Amino acid sequence: METTTYRDFWNRQASSPESAISAVDGSQSEDVVRHTGRWSAAQTLAALNISRSDDVLELGCGIGRIGRELAPHCGSWTGVDISENMIRYAGERMAHLDNVHFHQLERSDLAMLDDNQFDKAYSIAVFCHMDKEDLYLYLRELDRVVRPGGAIFVETWNLAHPIGWRRWAFEPLVWSRADQSQRKDVARNQFCTAEEFELYVSHAGFETLANFNESQSVQIVAGKELDAAQHASWLAHIEKNRDEIAYSALYAELFAQSVDVLFGTMPPAEMLSYIDGLGDTSEAALFRPYLLSLWEKNAELWGPIPGQKEG
Ligand SMILES: C[S@@+](CC[C@H](N)C(=O)[O-])C[C@H]1O[C@@H](n2cnc3c(N)ncnc32)[C@H](O)[C@@H]1O
Repeated sequence: METTTYRDFWNRQASSPESAISAVDGSQSEDVVRHTGRWSAAQTLAALNISRSDDVLELGCGIGRIGRELAPHCGSWTGVDISENMIRYAGERMAHLDNVHFHQLERSDLAMLDDNQFDKAYSIAVFCHMDKEDLYLYLRELDRVVRPGGAIFVETWNLAHPIGWRRWAFEPLVWSRADQSQRKDVARNQFCTAEEFELYVSHAGFETLANFNESQSVQIVAGKELDAAQHASWLAHIEKNRDEIAYSALYAELFAQSVDVLFGTMPPAEMLSYIDGLGDTSEAALFRPYLLSLWEKNAELWGPIPGQKEG
């Protein structure tokens, strides 16, 4: 079916709670989405030095995968998204929190939000699903709604890293097999080099404080109108917390393997045995349940999970 707008696409992805979970982290499992949400929330907390007095904005909040875990650490948390179905599920998943607000977006602007309304803003796994014009318009809007002295944490796919390239290589492969009389999917995965992403961020008005790009993703922390003391203090904070913010090499390797498994170029058993050999690492604790949830979803194709009874 042809999808002409971001909104149609993401509403269709979020046509049921299960498909909405699958659209945000691929898993279809509430347990796994909480686990991946805690991981991304920890990176965001560290990147933005979030405290209970901060008003925080998430652009493209989806079902609140990150927001559900992050909002308890904020003064207020606001989630905006193009899809009303995503926002509805986010509202249900975050109904127990009293400091959260939602807005559905109509287009690539944040017209319902005031100038300088937020201390901090972030967007994860969103800019990689839109055209560069929209990415830039949203960055300019983030610059409008974040207060001077505040900061943003944004990420997208990293074209220039070998694992980012490996992920990108699936896109032309899929397109080469598609019906090319149709337009390309509006929400298809799009990629930037670290330099290109930073260019959009800086032209939007921000000053880059960190550009982490040793993984499948480019992750940028950038400040708005920082004075010298604020600038120094942000740099010191980021330096101290870089391991909490940036994806590790092991994370990137496991990410690459999960893509290979999903695209059928690596047997899931091979990835499971690699994970089992890692021992007690936080990356193994994240990717093991993730892989098993994918395997359960694809059991017909991949066969039974070792050690689990069939049927
Ligand atoms: C892969 S999901 C990620 C959701 C969330 N950031 C997370 O990490 O769990 C992408 C989200 O971005 C939203 N989105 C996609 N294109 C958008 C656009 N042009 N404007 C605003 N939101 C958009 C989708 O509706 C979806 O909720």
